[in-house]
Amino acid sequence: MAPMATSTTSISSSPRALPRIAVLATGGTIAGSAADSAQTAGYQAGVVGVDKLLAAVPGLANVAHIEAEQVASIDSKDMPLALWATLAGRVDALLASGDVDGVVITHGTDTLEETAYLLHLTVKSAKPVVLTAAMRPSSALSADGPLNLLGAVTVAASPAARGQGVLVAFNNRIHSARDIVKTSTYAVDAFQSPEIGALGWVQDGRVEFQRGVVRPHTSGTPFSVGSVAVEWPVVDIVASYAGASRVMVDALVAAGVRGIVVAGTGNGSIHATLQSALAEAVKKGIAVVRSSRVGSGHVMRNGAAPDDALGFVSAGTLNPYKARVLLMLALASGKSAAAELQPIFDQY
Ligand code: SIN
Repeated sequence: MAPMATSTTSISSSPRALPRIAVLATGGTIAGSAADSAQTAGYQAGVVGVDKLLAAVPGLANVAHIEAEQVASIDSKDMPLALWATLAGRVDALLASGDVDGVVITHGTDTLEETAYLLHLTVKSAKPVVLTAAMRPSSALSADGPLNLLGAVTVAASPAARGQGVLVAFNNRIHSARDIVKTSTYAVDAFQSPEIGALGWVQDGRVEFQRGVVRPHTSGTPFSVGSVAVEWPVVDIVASYAGASRVMVDALVAAGVRGIVVAGTGNGSIHATLQSALAEAVKKGIAVVRSSRVGSGHVMRNGAAPDDALGFVSAGTLNPYKARVLLMLALASGKSAAAELQPIFDQY
């Protein structure tokens, strides 16, 4: 679905004393509705407007002066690249304008980790940008959206969140956009930063960070969506598994992709048949990045495949979906050789 025209809503109790937070709504389960309040799986995502999401959070106007915009109303599984460009452009424009102190984005959980990492690498501001979402639709008994939204606004309004890159506030925890992944199909505690853990927590108006973000992000990267959005480099993902064939790689090469990310087994190991096809793809100028389907841990360079000999890049701790985001940005910035790409994956 194409991004829709934005509309704005404003709420505040004492606008001069409070931080100014822009809430950009994009849809998702947080804006979902079901016919029955006991229903937490059968519902329509992205149908409730941002004004209703805000109205469901008593006391929000005591935390921040809110300006809200309905940027889109989608199920995030259908996230189009054009909406990434619209969202990134809007975040940068709001933060540069001096009219807001931070941005909160309400999003579907399904691709939240991809949008969050894209913004983490491309937003050019130290002001807080915080994504949030929900696992239960707004109509559900014990809907988790209102408390998550309150938590996200509280984090975005906190001076402690400045300079931490893009954050995700979910189920009382604060995660870095780089590390967070969705790890449950149904549980309210659906997000984790595997092995590394959350950055901190938000509860009852208090925000506490237990650690900082080490890798460069936002203004510390050379990436911007403005340049990518002109023509997003096509990067696809293939998986390795028992009995894998070369059919998908051959199809992607024939379709003219610029990059392929492999969701390898274990430490990014790749079925021999698939690996030969990928090595041939590299010789045709296609960037190949080895990630893992395991869900935690890192992919060690030259560990489970001879990266130097075959011209592959290892994704380190990025899962395949985040590795794809970084590869698209790197390709758009003009880097395509493995020797240029590996330092980018090592750094970001
Ligand atoms: C979505 O990603 O938009 C739907 C699923 C969710 O938000 O949990």
